[in-house]
Amino acid sequence: MASNDLMVGLEIGTSKICVVVGESRTDGTTKILGVGQAPSRGVRKGEIVDFETAMQCVAEAVADAEQKSDLMIKSVYVGVGGAHIQSFNNRGSVLLPDDRDEIDEQDVEDAKISAREVSIPAQNAFLHCIIQHYHVDGQDGVLNPLGMLGQKLEADYHIIHGVRTRIQNTIRCVKELPLEVEDVVFTALASAQVVLSQQQKNLGALVIDMGGGTTDYILYVDGAVKQSGAIGIGGDHITNDISMGLRIPMARAEKLKTDEGSVTLGNCLPGETVVLKDDSGFAGKEIERETLNTIIHLRVRETFELLKKQLDEENFINYIGEGIFITGGCSLLPGIDHLAEDIFEIPARVAHAQTMSGLTSAFQNPQFATAIGLIKYAQAVQVERPQRRGLSRLISKFLPGIR
Ligand SMILES: Nc1ncnc2c1ncn2[C@@H]1O[C@H](COP(=O)(O)OP(=O)(O)OP(=O)(O)O)[C@@H](O)[C@H]1O
Ligand SMILES: [Mg+2]
Repeated sequence: MASNDLMVGLEIGTSKICVVVGESRTDGTTKILGVGQAPSRGVRKGEIVDFETAMQCVAEAVADAEQKSDLMIKSVYVGVGGAHIQSFNNRGSVLLPDDRDEIDEQDVEDAKISAREVSIPAQNAFLHCIIQHYHVDGQDGVLNPLGMLGQKLEADYHIIHGVRTRIQNTIRCVKELPLEVEDVVFTALASAQVVLSQQQKNLGALVIDMGGGTTDYILYVDGAVKQSGAIGIGGDHITNDISMGLRIPMARAEKLKTDEGSVTLGNCLPGETVVLKDDSGFAGKEIERETLNTIIHLRVRETFELLKKQLDEENFINYIGEGIFITGGCSLLPGIDHLAEDIFEIPARVAHAQTMSGLTSAFQNPQFATAIGLIKYAQAVQVERPQRRGLSRLISKFLPGIR
């Protein structure tokens, strides 16, 4: 797949592996040509724990996507998540020489390098360095300083980093197949590309992607990323709580959660129950609905409260005019938006990838937001660097010993 117009997004999620093949059209729109998926094994809390098994699952999902799109996949944009992902904001600055006052590309690059001159943990690598705003001689909110006159250029960046070896494991898993990795992208950043419009980013919004093993988030104010990160709790923890709390097998607990579960308390009739039929090796059971919902409620509450604590370390949450957008598989739990509103005291809604050509309704499901978002991300990157410099940049970013 050598054409710049074709892009493939791959999410190696805790619950499922998803591969989306998309085509960027000359009018700027994107067409989805095929979506492949496979159940995920060998992945826990968004990170690969069994390399061989995860690789087999990725190969299965890729083969499925190839069949659906009738194309050979050679390279992918791959999502990276997990609780090892961290971020911070930093300002870089450069002074122009006395004999020049027009800002050029090198000055912009130097400001970026200066913003990255901060120490991150030795085992970590930079994943993204996302521009927020420039300042020229103290003038705030400059979006593109190229060609402007000034003596001092400052640039505010949002920097996302994660444990180098975990990122490398994801890359290796793909390269062994063998597929090229065009770029690695933080999962919530990918999801935000299709869950939010540019206007919503401008007005300020928080995306929460609650998947099977992790809850990833990203917060925009004034069109710029201000906070991002991940919490190592997801829907699998809820299923585990149901299984332990109600003493039923995990597979039963998962089905009970998705078919009958809700986050809302006090909505059931007194004594209302769900009957689990007997099955091979399982005697059947009657479950009180309020008990089931309480288990779910407590785990989702805990996750949101942990997230709120992380977000409250800075003040940006008070500036998200468009509110909260919850995506990922857990967003399908009825009442999750209301619980988010209770905890964050901000309007919240459930969101999936906005309509895209070729996207059948089956994939307008919050579980596919990341993989579809990777396509949008790829499209934006290809507009910026059409010569496909991505791979060499990627290699230098993640080879051991190279910063
Ligand atoms: N209808 C539903 N109701 C409640 N939960 C659901 C529903 N459908 C899926 N889920 C849950 O969503 C989770 C999977 O979501 P998703 O596919 O977004 O995760 P993932 O991307 O594979 O994992 P992660 O991003 O955490 O590594 C599972 O825990 C699953 O039980
Ligand atoms: Mg996910």
